[in-house]
Amino acid sequence: MKSLKKKVASAVYKGLLSIKPDVTLTEAEIISYLAYPPDQTMGDLALPCFKFSKELRMAPPAIASKLVEGFECEGIARAEAAGGYLNLKIDRGAFCRSIYDSIADTDKPYGASGEGAGKTVVLDYSSPNVAKPFHIGHLGTTVIGHSLKKMFEFAGYKCIGVNHLGDWGTQFGKLTVAYRKWGSREAVEQKGIDELVALYVKFHEEAEKEPALNDEARAAFTALEHGDPEITELWRWFIEISIAEYKKTYKQLDIEFDYYTGESFYTDKMPAVVEELKEKNLLTLDDGASIVDLEAYGMPPCLILKRDGSTLYPTRDIAAAIYRKNTFDFDKCIYVTSAGQCLHFAQWFKVLELMGREWYKDLVHVPYGTVSLNGEKLATRTGNVVLLKDLFDEAIDKAAAIMAEKNPELAGREDVAESVGVGAVVFYYLSSNRMRDINFVLEDALNFDGNTGPYAQYTYARTCQILHKCSDFRAEEFTPNDDEFALCKTLSLFPETFDQALYEYEPSIITRYVLQLCADYNRFYHNCPVLTAETEQLKAQRLALTQSTNKVLARALELICVRHPEKI
Ligand code: ARG
Repeated sequence: MKSLKKKVASAVYKGLLSIKPDVTLTEAEIISYLAYPPDQTMGDLALPCFKFSKELRMAPPAIASKLVEGFECEGIARAEAAGGYLNLKIDRGAFCRSIYDSIADTDKPYGASGEGAGKTVVLDYSSPNVAKPFHIGHLGTTVIGHSLKKMFEFAGYKCIGVNHLGDWGTQFGKLTVAYRKWGSREAVEQKGIDELVALYVKFHEEAEKEPALNDEARAAFTALEHGDPEITELWRWFIEISIAEYKKTYKQLDIEFDYYTGESFYTDKMPAVVEELKEKNLLTLDDGASIVDLEAYGMPPCLILKRDGSTLYPTRDIAAAIYRKNTFDFDKCIYVTSAGQCLHFAQWFKVLELMGREWYKDLVHVPYGTVSLNGEKLATRTGNVVLLKDLFDEAIDKAAAIMAEKNPELAGREDVAESVGVGAVVFYYLSSNRMRDINFVLEDALNFDGNTGPYAQYTYARTCQILHKCSDFRAEEFTPNDDEFALCKTLSLFPETFDQALYEYEPSIITRYVLQLCADYNRFYHNCPVLTAETEQLKAQRLALTQSTNKVLARALELICVRHPEKI
């Protein structure tokens, strides 16, 4: 169904044509100027005509009056000119009905444009470095990445989630040395990744005092590169243990990856890349290392091979991108990492362009800002980190304590506490624009009365409970009051909000939409009795609005990876 804004834009466009037959403004532009003013005395929908005065060479009030003449549009009851604005009064009953109908339509999910039909997107996210801690710095890549995956899926794309594990590099040399010196099989088997991280931290402490350990570690990594069977076996084991641990956290977030193809997966795919770079005369020797000079593009060189001939992080990314293009023939490949890696991505994207791979344009880097906890920054090497799993555990415990107080009778409380605790962390994280630096305060994230995940989940549960009590209704005629109309307006904005979030790779746009929807629903709920409404018609109308809110909230929460239990 055509949205109301689209219908209005067509009508306005017709009006503009009658003023200037060769007008270059488009309907899409007109839609972007149409707004629902917060103050309803200004009409339900307003169009600022000064946006057109330059092209039409006319004063805004004159344009507004001209547009009012003969304005006709389904769903609009009245058009008025007020100063430079065209103010439109919506036929509220018809509007609410049409929103309800499109949300209730089971054939086409409400808000899904279907733009991705037949297209494939690869998403590279989370990708922790094995043997180093999986800490709250990874929260961003993990939840933004997964949310983008959900969003692209909803838009109809085929999505492939790849965990590009950091499973190759000198840290394995360090870990091997540390394990042999201070570790034991039993301890690793018992404590899993915690023991690996402890060994890694100990290595750094000891190497401060005894720098020769670094040479030993380098030698161990070289041995791994040459396929030393014993070290290879240790390496495999370290990875296995780490993945098992990551999967526990992924399960709490309902994340499943299609592939765990880490950096090591591309070992045998890199020689061809190096060959091609040589053939295309792109490699230069720099103090024994091989680089691609990017000075002409205002960037430092991209490092391809170290002096000893070993490959680097960018080399593996180039090989991985080519492999993914050949294997999945993607339309887009998205990388979610901290903003600290912006230069890295800009560099190797440029190298692919220089190699003549036209599809370099389909590579997208989605960066995000830093995270601190209660004002403290994180440092991996000193072991001063907060692990993601510890943050989740703490949030779950706190959520359980709050719920034991609020709703002691609740069945299945443990599961719900997990959904609320983890959901609170994710929601809080995804509330700010991704480039903003975030300071995490768990108490704020779990405040049931704030703009939080628990508050959104609570609102959702409220809608479920009402619908449980009465699901049999037929809403045919709508006579919305101001609160009901405001709720409908917000419901009507879901499709365009989703499109914008997708276009900007910005899940927080959806999170903020959820908060708006909850605020509108709760205001409606407090002012308009649903089950005890005065007439059957009103009751049906309010149940219809409750059901629409329920569906849109569920969808929006799914898109930002927050669970929505029916009771909390
Ligand atoms: N393992 C890297 C890190 O933790 C992130 C990898 C991102 N993906 C990529 N293809 N480079 O910093």
